[in-house]
This record gives sequence, C-alpha cells and structure tokens, in this order.
Amino acid sequence: MSKIKTYNKIAQGGLNILIDSGFEVSDAIDNPDAIILRSEKLHTMTIESNLKAIGRAGAGVNNIPVDKCTNAGVVVFNSPGANANAVKELVIAGLLLSARDIFAGINYSKSLKGRGSEVNTLVEKNKALFKGIEISGKKLAVVGLGAIGVMVANAAVELGMSVSGYDPFISVDRAWGLSSSVIQASNLNKLLSGADFVSLHIPLTDSTKDFINSSCLSKLKNTATILNFSRPEIVDQEAIVTALNLGGIHRYVTDFPSELLLSSDKVIPMPHLGASTKEAEDNCAVMIGNQIKEFLD
Ligand code: MLT
Repeated sequence: MSKIKTYNKIAQGGLNILIDSGFEVSDAIDNPDAIILRSEKLHTMTIESNLKAIGRAGAGVNNIPVDKCTNAGVVVFNSPGANANAVKELVIAGLLLSARDIFAGINYSKSLKGRGSEVNTLVEKNKALFKGIEISGKKLAVVGLGAIGVMVANAAVELGMSVSGYDPFISVDRAWGLSSSVIQASNLNKLLSGADFVSLHIPLTDSTKDFINSSCLSKLKNTATILNFSRPEIVDQEAIVTALNLGGIHRYVTDFPSELLLSSDKVIPMPHLGASTKEAEDNCAVMIGNQIKEFLD
C-alpha cells in the first residue's frame, strides 16, 4: 500500500480520493511514496528512498526544491487554476479597499460607539475625511496572464476599468480566455506608464525576485496602487516603503505582511488569504488528490 504524507491542512475531499483508493494518508508517515502540502517549506528536506511525487495544493511551487526533486526523479505537481477564482475575488476587494478609504471609515464609525444621538451628525460631518475614487474608468495594469491574471483582467473589464496586460509567455489557452477588451502591452514600461493600479500575477523565480524595484516604482504615477497577491519576494519591500513614505505611490495592497511593511499606514496587509476559501481549498485538494493517485497507480 502506498503511503502519502501530508503537511499543512489539506481539504478532506482531496484526501478522501486517496483514502478511498486504499492509500495510507497521514501527517505522521516516514519514507512516504508521495507528499501533499500547501505552504510548508521543503527546501532543507532529505529526499527519502520511496518518494516518487510531491503535490502542492496551490499554484506556486517556490516552497519545493523542484530542481533537487527532478534530479532525484521525483515529480512535482501543482494545481494551477484551482484557486484562481478565490484569488481574483480578493484582488477585486483589494482594488476597492485601496480606492475607497473603507478601513479608516469603518474604524471611525466604530469609534463613535457610545456617542448616542450625536452619531449621525458626526458621520455626516466627517465623512469627507474618507472620500475615495471610483475604479470604473481607471487604468489597471496586469502583470502575468496565467489563470489568475486572466480572471482579474476580465473581472476588471466588467467593472468598467481600462485594462492592459503584459505576459511574454502567455499560453494559447489563456489568450483565448482573455477578454478582447484587454489591451496588450508590448513591454513593461508601456504597461506601467499611466497605470492607476498594477496587479502582479507572476510566479517567484530567480528572475522575478524584486521584479518591482525602485526603477519600476519611479515610472509609476504617484497616485498608483500596487497589488501583490503572488509572492512577497517579487516586490522589493525597502523600495516600496520608501516610495510610499515619499509619496511616490498611493498604496501597496499585499497578501504578505512583514514587520517592515506594517510600519507604513499606506500598506493594506492581508494574512495570505488569497486561496483561503472553502471552494479553493477543496478544488486544489481534489486536483492534487487525483494527480497523485493517477501517478502512483
Ligand atoms: C498558491 O500558491 O496558490 C497559494 O499560495 C496557495 C495557498 O494559500 O496555500
């Protein structure tokens, strides 16, 4: 009987595919035939003799030493697209949170608790403090047109935004799925110049580390917002905090807070919630469960 070791919390629907097929699945298995994980970092792991496959219930594989696995004949699977809708929805929420001062406004409303009949007067007197902008008609630049980037671009078109996309490696399938209203940017400079919002949907590799750096930031309008729901390392954090402090950009919305980022009130931090929906967790686990089962069979 093949044994599957799990790291992190994997949705039961995916594990049941393996359990129902007679595999032993547990987080306490030595020398497994396969590993299933979410964000556990495996870079320092020893590849044990039985290991044949690793399945990431998610899109990115930067927490897995893919080259080391490949050299050892261990196949690495991921679940591209399975959580794309969840990430897309959070990106749209991020766009709105940066355009309207929703957080500060809610905190202000809550601060009025106990003010009795004054509440309505104070709300009307101070609402101007939280005035925002509308995203309809604004320019969104989408970097990376994989499963998530395409969904974000299409949703933004539906919301009335003017959307440009840049992806020198776009697949034919993704191109078919992209709204014809999305303008193709031939290079990054063209994509960034004039953008009101920049949404990043690229994997972390050696060549995408610090993809957004001080040089990129200097090309943006000082009213621009950057959204990063991909990986923390694709944005140079020092450079972005400096740009925010100097008024070089408006907001940084990210799924990856850090001590440095939390020092700026202009950062809108979320705790890596992109793929954290019931639906996305189920989809990823089922896709990975099926892939691992078929491969081991
Ligand atoms: C992904 O790479 O798809 C996400 O990081 C998945 C997750 O949140 O575990």
